Amino acid sequence: MTNFHQTDEPQSGETIAIISTNKGQMKLRLFPELVGVAAENFIELAKQGKYNNVPFHRVIKDFMIQGGDFTNKNGTGGHAAAGEGENIGDVYDPRLKHIRGALSWAKTSAPNSIGSQFFIVHGENGAHFLDHPPNGHSHEGYTVFGQLYEGFGTLDSIAESKTDKRDKPKEEVIIESVEISILPTAMKTVYNFSAGPSILPKQATEEAKAAITDFANTGIGILEISHRTKHVEGMVAETESLLKELLSIPEGYEILFLGGGASLQFCMVPINLLGANSVADYTDTGLWASKALKEAKKFGKVNVVCSSKDSTYNHIPKTFEQTPGATYLHVTSNNTIYGTQWKEFPKANTYLVSDMSSDILSRPIDVSKFGLIYAGAQKNMGPAGVATVIIRSDILGKVERDIPTMLDYRTHIPEKSMFNTPPVFSIYVMNRVLHWLKNLGGVAAMEKLNAKKANMLYDALDNSKLFKGTAAKEDRSTMNIPFVFREDAVAADKKESLEKDFLKIAVEKGLEQLKGHRSVGGFRASIYNAMPIEGVETLVAFMAEFEKKTLG
Ligand SMILES: Cc1ncc(COP(=O)(O)O)c(C=O)c1O
Repeated sequence: MTNFHQTDEPQSGETIAIISTNKGQMKLRLFPELVGVAAENFIELAKQGKYNNVPFHRVIKDFMIQGGDFTNKNGTGGHAAAGEGENIGDVYDPRLKHIRGALSWAKTSAPNSIGSQFFIVHGENGAHFLDHPPNGHSHEGYTVFGQLYEGFGTLDSIAESKTDKRDKPKEEVIIESVEISILPTAMKTVYNFSAGPSILPKQATEEAKAAITDFANTGIGILEISHRTKHVEGMVAETESLLKELLSIPEGYEILFLGGGASLQFCMVPINLLGANSVADYTDTGLWASKALKEAKKFGKVNVVCSSKDSTYNHIPKTFEQTPGATYLHVTSNNTIYGTQWKEFPKANTYLVSDMSSDILSRPIDVSKFGLIYAGAQKNMGPAGVATVIIRSDILGKVERDIPTMLDYRTHIPEKSMFNTPPVFSIYVMNRVLHWLKNLGGVAAMEKLNAKKANMLYDALDNSKLFKGTAAKEDRSTMNIPFVFREDAVAADKKESLEKDFLKIAVEKGLEQLKGHRSVGGFRASIYNAMPIEGVETLVAFMAEFEKKTLG
């Protein structure tokens, strides 16, 4: 039998009946506003299993449309094809004795069964009649309470299987069971393009949700459990080793999970590494890079070796001179606001220090080039509240400075990030995210997926007459993609209201947080690791639709 499927799917919260037969399944939505005695009765009987193993040969073709007197052996009236309808209702319903043809189909107008209404038919003594079907007919004696939306065959083919007292069924359809359920209230699909905090893998948040009430089968929630328990210590140690594995972190490096976000690292890095009379080289590729160098200036000498500030940080400067004897070279690997990314890291005279907040774990990196890597978690790793620091331990202890205990990396290393109470929950979510990433094939697999997503969006921008990307092509980030309206497509005085329009409709379509950073305006789609490709597809489709609507 051919399967059919109606596009008019039941909505979340609606009651559905799944009718399993020997030929396949049929699904019926019960009209919520019409669910009354008849449907309740049906539901009740279904729950009692009273429809199990019932031949469908009592299904009456064109039941409604044929009309006619529903005269059966009991002599009670109704509207149905004459001669049909044994009194199966009697069998099933001890209360409503005069139900006639408890399960019947009516084909309203469709040539096949799609959209057919499903009736419960009452005889004249039926307890209650609720309504009439939406095809305009009004008949006493039945209650429309549902609509077929998925099933097998066509009504005709099902009807062929009918029999009455004269014919044998050609193809007997037997109802095996009827299952009633309420569709869960599905949440609208929302794609969160926020730059951070940002989208997390659903699996990780679900696991975190469960751990809130019971962590590691302890019966204690992750928010409540002591960080000194073996469970938490084990979880933190596992998070560390997962990160080591995923980023191929070589021997000689330590991993720390610290509070204070990436911004605290702007000062912890120079406090720990930069002597008061030493020089550190900083690349100025964006707002966060400039914040990092501003902090460093408080603790040593800073040489800003390059800057793209004059062109609103729309590219990565490629050639610059490093200061001879500089302690380190600082780079912001991905510039979240401007959507530029170091595709190849510069070769540092000594070692690189990198803020990888917005692209860590998005691509493989050669950690051995770096003395220190830091990243706030709230983009690719987990929720806000924890920053990860990966540090080569031999670069520590070289500055002569009395470092406050909490700001000294050497405090945290022997304590395994447990010198004080760590952000346990944030680390736990990170743990789940790392598991998710590992299961997906790790960072190399993620890099491929990220390239696919980013290329899809960049291709759409490059082929658009309405939108354009703002970052230099060779430096385009795979994580954050800022875009604006083309000046030749939208007049300056129309731009603001059209932007508002775009963002408003986007939200209606479940595309959230697309507004560009306040310093650059326009739009920005952050498509971190956890953004599914469907999110990018939906965005690209919406952009095309908006373009058509705007430009015609
Ligand atoms: C590249 C980069 N560095 C640093 C930060 C600041 O991070 P935090 O808020 O954790 O201090 C951000 C935040 O968006 C960022 O994108």
